[in-house]
Amino acid sequence: MTNVGEGRGARVLVFDSGLGGLTVLDEIRKLRPDIETVYLADDACFPYGALGEAELIARVDEVMALGIAKFAPDLVVVACNTASTLVMAPLRASYPQLSFVGTVPAIKPAAQSSRSRLISTLATPGTVARDYTKALVRDFAGDCEVTLVGSRKLAGIAERRLRGERIVIDEIAEEIAPCFVTRGERRTDRVVLACTHFPLLADLMAALAPWPVEFVDPAPAVARRVDALLGAPRGSGLAAGLAPALFTGRSAPSEELRKALLRRGLTISSDAPLAAAR
Ligand code: DGL
Repeated sequence: MTNVGEGRGARVLVFDSGLGGLTVLDEIRKLRPDIETVYLADDACFPYGALGEAELIARVDEVMALGIAKFAPDLVVVACNTASTLVMAPLRASYPQLSFVGTVPAIKPAAQSSRSRLISTLATPGTVARDYTKALVRDFAGDCEVTLVGSRKLAGIAERRLRGERIVIDEIAEEIAPCFVTRGERRTDRVVLACTHFPLLADLMAALAPWPVEFVDPAPAVARRVDALLGAPRGSGLAAGLAPALFTGRSAPSEELRKALLRRGLTISSDAPLAAAR
């Protein structure tokens, strides 16, 4: 197989409904500081977790077409479980020349490592309802009791935290509470963070958990997959400058958000908005 991005530094487009995909982008850039990255957030349609399946497929198709035409990436990372559990097959069919990497609930590694055999998957309501997610449970966690928890609020709370807005800690405690299950002496020991926004709250979740669990974040595995597909680094070994972040929404980013992005090596592109708001 020919490695992607041959002849120049590889360019990777990382896509999410909002800021959650930054948790995946961070891992990719840690592993591959040589590549060019572009971050694309469809905040005009946030949250994806509230969209119907047909609406979400159509929206991702629309935004992806703009992103791919504008940036000509070698590889696209769908850093969103809500989208990846639905849109990977149509995307691959539409762009057979491109490599796509999705982000899906890490139910398999959680089931492999759980000792209590009680695992929970914390996701958006959309991801929890997907056939794809149910198939992961059936195929990889048949001997575990898997509690699927659909949270309506956590992705928004994570966005607000990164934007420097006020968040209510009790709301986080309420949202994660159904993940903690006991069966006699046994209790949940793995909670899959099946929304890329949730690692942005991992410190608070750990502090609020009624007992210690391992929160399983698929981002490092996604980064390893990207690394494998890109092949060996080419060129100087370090990508130059800040990476652009684009938002489809029209609301002006807060100073806090600009700073948070800068700390991650990103700058908001003045090119936005890329796609019309709904
Ligand atoms: N970050 C997205 C995910 O991984 C979802 C957030 C949203 O509802 O838009 O599922």
